[in-house]
Amino acid sequence: MSDLVQSPAWKALAAHQAGIKKRSLRELFCEDSKRFDKLSVQLDGLLLDYSKNLLTEETLELLLKLVRQSKLDDWTAKMFGGEKINSSEHRAALHMALRAPRGASMLVDGVDIVPEVHQVLDRVRHFSEAVRNGVLRGYTGKPFKDVVSIGIGGSALGSLMVTEALKPYGNLKLNAHFISNVDAANLTETLKRLDPESTLFIISSKTFTTLETLTNARSARDWLVANLGSDGAIEKHFVAVSANLVEAKKFGISREYTFELWDWVGGRYSFWSAMGLSIVLYVGMDNFERMLAGAHAMDNHFRETPLERNMPVILGMIGIWYANFFGATTYAVLPYDDYLKYFPTYLQQLEMESNGKCVDRNGQLVDYATGMVLFGEAGTNGQHSFYQLIHQGTQMVPADFIVSVDSHNAMGEHHAILVANCFAQAEALMLGKTMEEARAELVAQGLDDGELELMLPHKVLPGNRPSNTLLFDQMDPYSMGMLVALYEHKVFVQSVVWNVNPFDQWGVELGKQLANKLLPEIQEGRHVVVHDSSTNGLINHFIERSV
Ligand code: F6P
Repeated sequence: MSDLVQSPAWKALAAHQAGIKKRSLRELFCEDSKRFDKLSVQLDGLLLDYSKNLLTEETLELLLKLVRQSKLDDWTAKMFGGEKINSSEHRAALHMALRAPRGASMLVDGVDIVPEVHQVLDRVRHFSEAVRNGVLRGYTGKPFKDVVSIGIGGSALGSLMVTEALKPYGNLKLNAHFISNVDAANLTETLKRLDPESTLFIISSKTFTTLETLTNARSARDWLVANLGSDGAIEKHFVAVSANLVEAKKFGISREYTFELWDWVGGRYSFWSAMGLSIVLYVGMDNFERMLAGAHAMDNHFRETPLERNMPVILGMIGIWYANFFGATTYAVLPYDDYLKYFPTYLQQLEMESNGKCVDRNGQLVDYATGMVLFGEAGTNGQHSFYQLIHQGTQMVPADFIVSVDSHNAMGEHHAILVANCFAQAEALMLGKTMEEARAELVAQGLDDGELELMLPHKVLPGNRPSNTLLFDQMDPYSMGMLVALYEHKVFVQSVVWNVNPFDQWGVELGKQLANKLLPEIQEGRHVVVHDSSTNGLINHFIERSV
């Protein structure tokens, strides 16, 4: 058994859970009229209500013991101090430097990296303003109208998610498009509607070797050259964001149009850098800087606030409570904000690529869960698809609700209805509907006894389904920065308790390796026997059937 599972803090939580699971949230709220006041915390226009969780103050004390035993403070100091805590890749994880204000100092190998960060941000400002003002134009002299970002995973999801989230701040003269999938449908359907003369491509790839990104980038380059009739168009229409300046240059992108990234930034933590160029082009550098300021405020909160009032620590501990002590395997993120529709998709990578590990930092197999499968959908849409299982299904699915006080679109009753649904869902999950309540409802509907007894079990909702609610004053760029940094640090807190490295992703590599091996077999079209019978069968069937 692992040290973690044998630790007194873990054992105390396991024993405590046996008592808590017999309690109901209804009871806990009845017992303490101040539960909301005690179990909620605020920061800069963000209220985190975690009172609708199956926990007491004693639970939180025990969880805090677990966090303290993991030496979170030391790990946080190491991370902010630029130590190479991404041990399997021998790298620091200093995405916080990307949002550190000018004049701050953060060191990697004794070198202050904040000035470099601001040098690149200054270049991003200069470049983005020139594009937005029509000073930088395409090969034929037309101003840019469409920006196509080509990248995948951490080099795409953050920009896609934020560009959508900050649409109310978007530039109406520039359209943002994102291409990730190597399926040609993605590129073809996008390019169909675009004018090559006014289209700018951003190739976002830290390594500049990712197969999908380079395949899409080459096809986009072919399309541009074919339409504009000259290779000379490439350096006017292609921008690179990469740590691999050599490959970016080989592709044909000029140094002036290349923005660098550093090895101490992980892909899924990178959109705060030039990786967010498409965001900047769309919402402008001032808004981007407001977002960086919001993230920096969350960094400071995480570093300086006592653990018991620390938002990322609270969210992290609650996730651990359900994953490790209630056996929850799935977790829902439910933004009641249509602009946040890609937030669950973004978080899937952040949480699942970071902590989806089965060995600990020492290479030992773990004997505890290291995360939950995350999914989600903007409210109220999700209510009409998967919420049923969360309300009455057989498993616990803890949820995070996200909503704002103000709407960007003051239109009739829309926002009041949206917010009412959000709060009502959290309440319904918590309270459920008792047998007595269900019976009273059916009696009021005038059902006869036989029908009532038949209907009754279907109308009962067990309740006791936990959730957090994040209530923002408004989803502006500053809030956006806080929101993402909150989850980044939450994931870090959990990784420390679980003793896993949240900054590598070796599991993704195997798929890449095998695809590279399989590709020539598919392309050559010869009968194969080297794989297992299923893979052989699929390849051979594909070859036989393809024309
Ligand atoms: O999904 C795996 C991954 O390695 C991510 O971590 C990374 O963000 C993405 O692929 C893209 O990598 P790159 O930016 O090098 O093209």
